[in-house]
Formats: sequence, C-alpha cells, structure tokens
Amino acid sequence: MKILVTGGAGFIGSHTVVELAQAGHTPIILDNFSNSRPSILDGIKDILGYRPTLHTGDCTNPVFLTSVFEREHIDGIIHFAALKAVGESLEQPLRYYRNNIGSLVDLLDMALHHGVRAFVFSSSATVYGTPDMLPIPETAPRKPATSPYGNTKQIGEDILRDTTAMANGILRSSALRYFNPIGAHPSGLIGELPLGTPNNLVPYLMQTAAGKRTTLTVFGNDYPTPDGTGIRDFIHVVDLAQAHISTLESLFAAQESPETFTVYNVGTGKGTSVKELIGTFERVTGITIPYTVGSRRPGDIAACYADPQKIKKELKWEAKLSLAQALEDAWRWQQNSPKP
Ligand code: NAD
Ligand code: UD1
Repeated sequence: MKILVTGGAGFIGSHTVVELAQAGHTPIILDNFSNSRPSILDGIKDILGYRPTLHTGDCTNPVFLTSVFEREHIDGIIHFAALKAVGESLEQPLRYYRNNIGSLVDLLDMALHHGVRAFVFSSSATVYGTPDMLPIPETAPRKPATSPYGNTKQIGEDILRDTTAMANGILRSSALRYFNPIGAHPSGLIGELPLGTPNNLVPYLMQTAAGKRTTLTVFGNDYPTPDGTGIRDFIHVVDLAQAHISTLESLFAAQESPETFTVYNVGTGKGTSVKELIGTFERVTGITIPYTVGSRRPGDIAACYADPQKIKKELKWEAKLSLAQALEDAWRWQQNSPKP
C-alpha cells in the first residue's frame, strides 16, 4: 500500500516510515521541517538502502496537498504532522489550532476526494487529563483539555469520528492515544532531534548525560507515588511505530466492518517513576546523572499509564521492547546525532 506519512521526518514519523517500508509498504513522506531536519532522511536511507519519496511543504496548504494527491495514488494516511509543545500552545493558541486542526481538515478533504481507505491520527494520553483510574482504559472519560495542544487532540478525534461516519464505509480511521514515546532506532541512525531546550524527560536526560546540560531537575518528589516522583508509561518508539502498521493493516482488512472509527491506547501498561527511569539509565550506561529535585511542573499529574488490552486483543499488537533497551537506544542516538 502507498502510505502518505505527514510529519514523516519527525521523531515518531521517521521510525514509522522505516517500519512501513520494512513491512512491504511504500511510505511517501510529507513534511515542512518546522520541527525536524532534512538530514533525518539520510538516516532513513542508511537503514533502508534507498531514500523514500519526500514532498516538502505544508499540510495546511490545499494547493500543495492537491499536487501531492494528484501525483501519488495514496491508499492510506498516517497523520503525524502537528505542533506539540504544551507550553508554547498556551502562548500561541491560534498557531496551534490553525496548524493542528487546519491540517487535519484539509487532509480529510483530500482523503475523501481521492478514495483513501485508511487514516491513522496521532492522539495522546493527554486527552484523559487527571485520570480517575489506573491503568487507563479507552473507556475512561476525556477530561476538559488544559492546553490548546491537548484540545487539538480532542477536537481532532471528534473531527475524524464525524468525517468517517459520513464516508460511506470507504474511509476508515483510528486515533492512537500515545503514552510517552522514547528511545531511538537500534541502528543509532535515526532518533529524536529536539530543537532548543528539551521539555521532555528523556531528551533532557540524554543531553545531561552528554554534558550539554549541567543538571537534570526532577519536577517534584512529593507526589502520592512510591518514591514521590511522577509515574509515566514510557514506550519505545519502534514499538509505537509498529502499532501504526498493525492499525493500518486492520483498517484495510476491515472494509466490511460497520465500525468506521476506533480509538486505541498505545502504551506498555507499565508505570515507571522518574527516579526509576534515571536509575535504569545509570545502570545500563554506567553514567551517573547529576540531578536535583525541584518543584512540581504546573499541569503535571502524578501518574499515567495505559491499559493496553484493547489493542492487544483487537490488533494483536503489544509492546515488546524494554525501558532499558529504549534508554540504550536513545543514548546511542544521542552520541551519533548531528550537532546543532
Ligand atoms: P515531531 O515534532 O518530531 O514531528 C512532527 C513533524 O511534523 C515534524 O517533522 C514537523 O516538521 C512536521 N510538521 C508540523 N506541522 C506541519 C505541517 N503543517 N505541515 C507539514 N509538516 C508539519 O513530533 P513527534 O514527537 O514525532 O509527534 C508526532 C505526532 O504525535 C504529533 O501529532 C504529536 O502531537 C503526537 N504525539 C507525540 C507525543 C510525543 O511524546 N512525542 C505524545 C503524544 C502524541
Ligand atoms: C508531556 C506533555 C504531554 C505531551 C507529552 C509528549 C506536559 C504537562 N505534558 O507529557 O501533553 O503529550 O509531553 O510531548 O507538558 N520531568 C522531570 N524533569 C524534566 C522533564 C520531565 O522530572 O526535566 C518529569 C515530569 O514531571 C513527568 C515525567 O518526567 O513526571 C515525564 O515528563 P515529560 O517527558 O515531559 O512527559 P509528560 O509530562 O508525561
């Protein structure tokens, strides 16, 4: 199948491009490089032995999108392209709504006009807000979003549900609610390329280990968790990428199913605390991380981890790679990655 991967040069997109190609599909990358670098294509080429087709441009530009859809016969779309910094979205709400919602609306329009059969959307565990239960199943209620970024994921899910309900069964879609993607390709050839100071734990930890940052701050050790630090469900990006292939293939196979829109959690089901993660990194690399304990980060919750039973049962996907493997891979990439 020919699969358009918007945001295919980004962190999760680049790994999914590799897994798609290795599963026998043809990925077509679309990216505007607003949060990635063209050099990631070199890494993809080194892994695959060839350079996938790239269309450089913006998903919010219908003229550009039309030219891509007219040139390629697209069977399915994985839509990663979005802005994703929570704090920035509070400062620039319209930019986030325009980019994240505008791109989805325009792409769905194209999908309907060009007979696309499958659409996978990057959602987030952020839609659950402060969860009432742990682990979190898909049936847990979505909570009012606390940032424009989080709101774009909730609105995005609703747009997708309503659009595919009216698509006469031709277009089917899934929203994948990612927990905390980390790691890098085990080859060390592709990985996350945070521009500027990283907000997320693992990129910050990697840069601290590499000596680019002096100290990691642990945001709070007074949470109601066993060691007082926040608990998250860290999933290896290669496992996450493979979940997209399982989802796409199920959408193509389900052409008779009355269900046109599905939602899946993509996590390991295991919660790991910030302190445990630092300890695991230190154990597998032998590097000591200098850290201090600071105050809680506004908006953070104590604990968040997935109940991944639905995707396991329906799509036969489950996370296989360990936290230690993810941290080793992220560290290999940190040592190889191009310096800004
Ligand atoms: P990323 O920033 O590395 O990748 C996104 C890519 O999309 C970038 O290459 C960027 O240049 C591109 N892009 C953005 N807007 C575009 C536009 N209008 N047109 C064309 N290209 C555009 O982010 P990621 O971590 O790979 O995340 C991918 C998706 O997963 C996003 O939708 C994000 O919100 C979602 N998500 C990520 C996480 C996470 O922790 N990384 C967690 C939950 C959900
Ligand atoms: C954050 C976003 C979330 C987004 C996800 C992926 C917030 C509030 N949430 O999730 O919406 O989907 O990133 O982009 O921004 N931590 C430290 N020190 C650090 C960084 C983080 O202790 O320097 C802690 C945090 O307090 C948290 C854990 O590490 O307990 C994970 O943080 P992070 O990697 O930023 O992910 P989330 O906050 O879960």
